[in-house]
Amino acid sequence: MIEIIQPAQNLSGAIRLPGDKSISHRWAMISALAEGKTTIHGYATGEDCHSTLGILTRLGIEVDDQGSEVTISGKGLDGLSAPSEALDAGNSGSTIRMISGILAAQPFTSHIHGDESLSKRPMQRVMTPLAEMGATILATNWKYPPLEIRGNKLKAIDYATPVASAQVKTCVLFAGLFCEGETIVREPVRTRDHTELALRMFGADIRSAGNVITLKGRPQLIAKELNVPGDLSSSAFFLSAALMMPDSNLVIGGVGLNPTRTALLDYLAGLGAEIKILKVGEQHGELVGEIMVRGKVKTPGFIAGAMTASLIDEIPTLAVLGAATEGLDVRDASELRVKETDRIATVAENFKRAGIQIEVREDGFTVPGHQKFKASQFDSFGDHRIAMAFAVASLVADGPSEIHRSEAASVSFPEFYATLRRITE
Ligand code: S3P
Repeated sequence: MIEIIQPAQNLSGAIRLPGDKSISHRWAMISALAEGKTTIHGYATGEDCHSTLGILTRLGIEVDDQGSEVTISGKGLDGLSAPSEALDAGNSGSTIRMISGILAAQPFTSHIHGDESLSKRPMQRVMTPLAEMGATILATNWKYPPLEIRGNKLKAIDYATPVASAQVKTCVLFAGLFCEGETIVREPVRTRDHTELALRMFGADIRSAGNVITLKGRPQLIAKELNVPGDLSSSAFFLSAALMMPDSNLVIGGVGLNPTRTALLDYLAGLGAEIKILKVGEQHGELVGEIMVRGKVKTPGFIAGAMTASLIDEIPTLAVLGAATEGLDVRDASELRVKETDRIATVAENFKRAGIQIEVREDGFTVPGHQKFKASQFDSFGDHRIAMAFAVASLVADGPSEIHRSEAASVSFPEFYATLRRITE
């Protein structure tokens, strides 16, 4: 599909975002292993989280999927059954990496695959710890999906993850649920902690000290009634757009404010944005609140080290913001090359189409500021965050632009273009 985006003068109004993708995946998977019926309100509407539900159904779990209202009838830690067909993770790296930890501990073999993009994403990062725990996993060229996961009785390990990845941490912790004794994960930098919060909320004994997480195996997990907060990563598109059009005034309600995710807000405030956080409360261990944004970018952006890991999903739209304002320098970001697309390459290609300069390096890039986007035919390259980042770029272009393969946005945000239209003038 091709979406046409008109330039806009400002952006104003109040919006709500789809349920947080990271939280939705985790709560769904844990619900399947809990005892009883868990109802999840505000479940992420994107296709990725529905791939997770499809897999749980194939594993014998009753799932009532009403879009953003989902009920999962958990069968306890030992309740999954062998799937009669291969499992399909679609475009979702989170699904395949996190569920692998659960599948590795089952008394059966599973086959799991995904779409073309997922078939190029590295899986050694989860295969290595799972093999150490006792599972056998076969992959294309020893690293890519489809995976054949031959489940086994696993043993607890003490694992230092070489990559800063919450998906890897979650995979190992999920596998650790099935082990006797304590599973320990040591992270190089602290990544999003939704898994730790969720496991504790469902009744597991899990402790975090700095970057070290310790989980006691074989917990009894109890079903819950839950509300998912809005996805802060999806707010990045609107926050960036608002800051590119300084007369904007935007309120985003009911959004997740987990401190391991709010680097985005710190970063934007550091650039000079006026960001107010209101109505903060706690829901199921997660912070939730309202964000008001105004003002303009006054200084160039610089993202490196642990900050890069914390902002990894937001970098494409922050690159657009940087080009239109004071510039951006991104370092230590080789992980961008193994996301849904090689996001350094796909950002650079779309910049080229719009006449925007960028200096690309293997693990980052530099974008000079104060550049003008030419009206362009952008391409999502099948990547949801690239589609949305360049819809934002289109708002400040010198004429209407096109987003080709625009439907990619529905992986995380099916309502994105409608929401954008509602608040742009
Ligand atoms: C996610 C972790 C990040 C992020 C992804 C969601 C998660 O991936 O990019 O969109 O929910 O744990 P990595 O763990 O590979 O960094």
